[in-house]
Formats: sequence, C-alpha cells, structure tokens
Amino acid sequence: MNKQLQEMLDNAKNKISEITDANEFKKLEEIRIQFLGKKGPIQEVMQQMRTLTNEQRKEMGQYVNTIKTEISALVDAKKAELEIKIVEEKIASESIDITLPGRIMPKYTGFHPLNQIVRDIEDFFSTMGYQTIQGPEVELDYYNFEAVNIPKNHPARDMQDTFYISPEQLLRTHTSGVQARTLEKADVNNFPIKFISPGKVYRRDDDDATHSHQFMQIEGMYIGENISMAQLRGTLQAFVDHLFGEGRKIRMRPSYFPFVEPGVEVDVSCAKCGGSGCNICKGPGYIEILGAGLVHPQLLEIAGIDSAKYSGFAFGMGPDRVAMLKYGVEDIRNFYTNDLNFLKQFNR
Ligand code: PHE
Repeated sequence: MNKQLQEMLDNAKNKISEITDANEFKKLEEIRIQFLGKKGPIQEVMQQMRTLTNEQRKEMGQYVNTIKTEISALVDAKKAELEIKIVEEKIASESIDITLPGRIMPKYTGFHPLNQIVRDIEDFFSTMGYQTIQGPEVELDYYNFEAVNIPKNHPARDMQDTFYISPEQLLRTHTSGVQARTLEKADVNNFPIKFISPGKVYRRDDDDATHSHQFMQIEGMYIGENISMAQLRGTLQAFVDHLFGEGRKIRMRPSYFPFVEPGVEVDVSCAKCGGSGCNICKGPGYIEILGAGLVHPQLLEIAGIDSAKYSGFAFGMGPDRVAMLKYGVEDIRNFYTNDLNFLKQFNR
C-alpha cells in the first residue's frame, strides 16, 4: 500500500508539474479530481485498509492524510502560479504603446460665419463712432415690449411669437430692448450717443429653411439733435457698400414698427440682377435686409428725454440673413447644426 501511495504521489507531482500554461487551468482541476476525488486511488487505498489491523490502519490512515495534504498543496500552489500568469498575460496584452503617434485631430479652427459677419459689422460701425453695447438674452417683458412702445395686449405683440419664462420674463424676441435700457441710463449732456448691439434673439417659430427659433440681430441707434431720415439713409448706404461692395442700391419702403415713426423696411439691390429681377431675389430685384426708422418720441419720453429737443434713428438687422445673402447659403439651419464641412468653408 505504501508503495502504491508513493507511486501515486510521484504520478500526481509529475502531472502537476507538466502544467505550465494558464490555459490549462481546467486540466489542473481534472487532476485534482482524478487523485483526490471520490473515485480516485485514495479511496481505493481506503477500501483496502479494511483488511488491516487497528494499529496498521491508524498508521496507514496518517500516511494517506499526508499524501492527500501534499497533493492538495501542490494543486493549490500551481493554481496560484497560474492565476498570476493569467494577470500578467492580461496586463501584457492590454498595455498601451506610448511611443505610437497620436491620432490626427481635425485641423479646423476659425470663427463661425455669423461671428465673422458680426465682427465685420462691429468694425464698420466702430469706425463711424458707434460703441457696442450688450443686453441680456433673458429679458424683462418691460424692456422687450413695454418700454419700446408695445404695451400689454398691443396687437404688435403678435408680430413676434414669444418664449415666456414667467409673465414678466421672456427670451428676448429682438435686440430693441437694448434701445430702452440704453436710453433709460443715457445722460443728455453726453449726446449724441451712437451704439450697436449684436446678440441672439428667440422666437417661437417652426424651424425651416428661412426660419430658426434662435437667430442673431444687430440693433443700431443714434440719438442727438436734428437727426433725420437722410442721415439714416446715408449711414445704411455706407454700411451696404462696406458689406457687399460698392454698387448695390438701397431702397426704403414704408413699414410699421411700434418703436419708430416713420418706419421703413430697407432692401438692397440684388447682387445677381442689380434690380431688374431674377430667381435669386424672386422677381422684384431687391432683397429685404433690415427694419429701421426715426425713434418714436414715446420711447424718449418713457426714458425721460425731451422728445421736442432730441431725436434719433434706429435700425435692426439679421446677420443670419446677411450671411445667407453674402455667401449664398440657402438654409438658415446650417448655421446652428455645427456641421464641420459647412463651417470649414468660412475659414479665412
Ligand atoms: N426690432 C425689429 C424686428 O425685430 C427691427 C427694427 C429695429 C425695426 C429697429 C426698426 C428699428 O423686427
């Protein structure tokens, strides 16, 4: 029996030592079952032990136990060895080669076309002595409407579908609120004042090729003494010359905005047909680019400015529309979807 056990131990030792690969984890378990399991040689020896005397059985029992412990210690040691190997192999296969060159990122950097237009317009007006004044996008109903002569329930509110935040707070529908804010703070001793105010505005429009619920506006205002429509016209003609190049004519059509009197819509002659009519301007030869007029005396009075002494003009334009005309962009939504292929074209 002793010999049998000794052979078994040697056999187990050999088999266990043959295992070197982490993939043989399963095989190790099989070896454990083979030697120590219920149908293994140890059980066989136990059966045979029945024929021994008590004394011999005791001795043999102890020997069997040492063999059993030895084999399971060998299996455990091998298991631990394989586990370390598995982790090492995993680390090796997942390691990062820090010497590899990085992925090339898109090279595009540049100003958004709308920001380019706004900067260009700011540059132009600053050379004419206009400062740039910013106003809040979350605006009070008071400045967006009431202080520019659109009281509550005035039908002109329907011209601009509004996102209300609370009954008194809204997303501004135009930049004209900056007129009211600036006049309120203005000191007549510093007149004349000239400023433009670019920024985002919001309207509850359904988005399509020519409408966006968010777009840009640039307000302009000039207040002093004896300001006339002729000055407004001259300013806007110079502006159009700068923006589109010389040779484009402007045309004023009477229109209604509650904050100006008289009010006009200003058109610029079509780049393609020069005013005779074509498919770009859809016939008339002129394309509308802004609203303007002489500041309504009521605005000056609301701000505590003597409307008998002071007057002024104001205009409001849409950089989106200007950019569409200037660059031939057919869908306003292109400006807001951040498609790099679109934006790249305006990289200077
Ligand atoms: N606020 C007007 C609009 O959004 C534009 C405008 C501004 C018209 C200033 C006249 C004077 O339609």
